[in-house]
Amino acid sequence: MGDAQVTLPDGWVSPQEAGELENLAREGTVLEVGAWLGLSTVTMAHVAKRLVSVDHHRGSTEHQSGGACHDATLVNQFGDVDTLPRFRMNLRQNRALDKVIIIVASFEDIAPLLAPESFDLVFIDADHTTDAVLRHAKLAGDLVAIGGALAFHDANWPTVRAAIEAYSLELVVPVERHEVGSLHVLRFI
Ligand SMILES: C[S@@+](CC[C@H](N)C(=O)[O-])C[C@H]1O[C@@H](n2cnc3c(N)ncnc32)[C@H](O)[C@@H]1O
Repeated sequence: MGDAQVTLPDGWVSPQEAGELENLAREGTVLEVGAWLGLSTVTMAHVAKRLVSVDHHRGSTEHQSGGACHDATLVNQFGDVDTLPRFRMNLRQNRALDKVIIIVASFEDIAPLLAPESFDLVFIDADHTTDAVLRHAKLAGDLVAIGGALAFHDANWPTVRAAIEAYSLELVVPVERHEVGSLHVLRFI
């Protein structure tokens, strides 16, 4: 198969946000929570040392039938949303497969098994309900190296913003923060 007509996967990361993800991921170890079809994955994998990508690949609420982001071409023969085959193909086409460790699991299940590993960047872009983002932030916070960053996508969603604010109140380590587009970045100093 030729690689001549490589296109980036579909996704919701803007070019400006992709540039910041590249800055944060460059030469580092990265944990991604929420991959969808791999746009953020290939963006970071191209510059990172190593990337662990976690997604159960069943889609979030908005991806299910009737949801705002549903794509009927991603429904398998059992009627389930299943992004894994296209995700793997997109990584292959974008020459990112060898850089990425793919974990097909909910983050809640796998996060305790990842410790005591720590990452230079943890990127959270999974279930956008306040409860889930807060739960993921707490689990992810334990996996960020000192000097590393925890980045949230879609921080302009009120549900995500509420979770970031709640998480920030519980932080016991000092952080510096900045925003690029809808990316909210906490640098653990
Ligand atoms: C908004 S999409 C990710 C978009 C992707 N980062 C991009 O750049 O296009 C959210 C993804 O999170 C996944 N997801 C939702 N809840 C999850 C959970 N608890 N654990 C792991 N993945 C989850 C969904 O399957 C979906 O693929």
